[in-house]
Amino acid sequence: MKITIRRSFVQNIPHIPVLYREVVEAFETIKDGIIIDCTMGYAGHSSMILEANPNIKLIAIDQDQTAIDFSTKRLEPFKERVEIKKGRFSSVIKEILQEYDISEIKGVLADIGVSSLQLDQKDRGFSYESENLDMRMDKDAPLTAATVVNEYSSAELEKILLEYGELRNYKKIVSVIMANRPFHSAKELSDAVKPHMPKGKKIHPATLLMQAIRIEVNDELGELKSLLQSLADAKLPKAKIAIISFHSLEDRIVKQVFSSWTKSCICPPEAMRCVCSNDYALGKILTKKPLMAKEDELKENARSRSAKMRIFQMDI
Ligand SMILES: C[S@@+](CC[C@H](N)C(=O)[O-])C[C@H]1O[C@@H](n2cnc3c(N)ncnc32)[C@H](O)[C@@H]1O
Repeated sequence: MKITIRRSFVQNIPHIPVLYREVVEAFETIKDGIIIDCTMGYAGHSSMILEANPNIKLIAIDQDQTAIDFSTKRLEPFKERVEIKKGRFSSVIKEILQEYDISEIKGVLADIGVSSLQLDQKDRGFSYESENLDMRMDKDAPLTAATVVNEYSSAELEKILLEYGELRNYKKIVSVIMANRPFHSAKELSDAVKPHMPKGKKIHPATLLMQAIRIEVNDELGELKSLLQSLADAKLPKAKIAIISFHSLEDRIVKQVFSSWTKSCICPPEAMRCVCSNDYALGKILTKKPLMAKEDELKENARSRSAKMRIFQMDI
């Protein structure tokens, strides 16, 4: 089916939503009930879903007050059908699952990671040119990038750089950080490590370091795992779950969790015969391979190049 999106939904806004045609298409068969947007951001996906699905209610979550303020105004035309909640989706989703009849929940979207505005606003500290060391999506959260960089032990920093940054020379980088800290800004930090970082053709050498620190500050992988666990525990009878990720670590988590959700038998491999009742499957994977941005989207939004969306249909 041909998807038509109003130009105002993707122009003159602080963040162009990625894979928006695919998101609208994924949810367009949902005629009523509740769709949860776990990462409302600047309400690009939220507003498109509300427009394409005139009888649904949307519950939208974000932990960033700037995004909440912007999107509260942006979603004003749909306000009778929208509920906005501030907080980390790992905990807000648990409240929603308790508050609502789970058979009403027909769709869940998460477009994880940072928004373009968070990246572009230098005072948020996400850019390697920032004059501070912050990187919190929620400005009230206790852990900042300054604490990670200036107070974590070298073993803790090595673990983060290896696991979240996948940096091969993580030990060298950590030794440079330890020898030069305290750092007061992302710019100071990236200048200090730059000579030791792998030289990518397209990305700034400090990008992987910044990414690793950001994932730690916002517990991004923990948030994703917890969200998926809550959805599995809730056993939503007919919900469609769509997760967009930008990082191979996140995509791997989504792929593995979705695959585990298709398994009907959970007996250990050494079991001679099935004793588990063989009815544990939650539904089916709708995307054998992740959906990625096509040529036309890549032209209008370069940041969509690493976005991958996987979709699971719960059917219990
Ligand atoms: C990539 S942007 C989403 C953009 C959005 N889909 C749109 O169309 O404008 C991610 C947003 O999710 C928020 N976010 C990321 N992780 C979160 C979490 N664990 N809990 C709540 N909000 C989160 C960020 O603050 C950011 O505003």
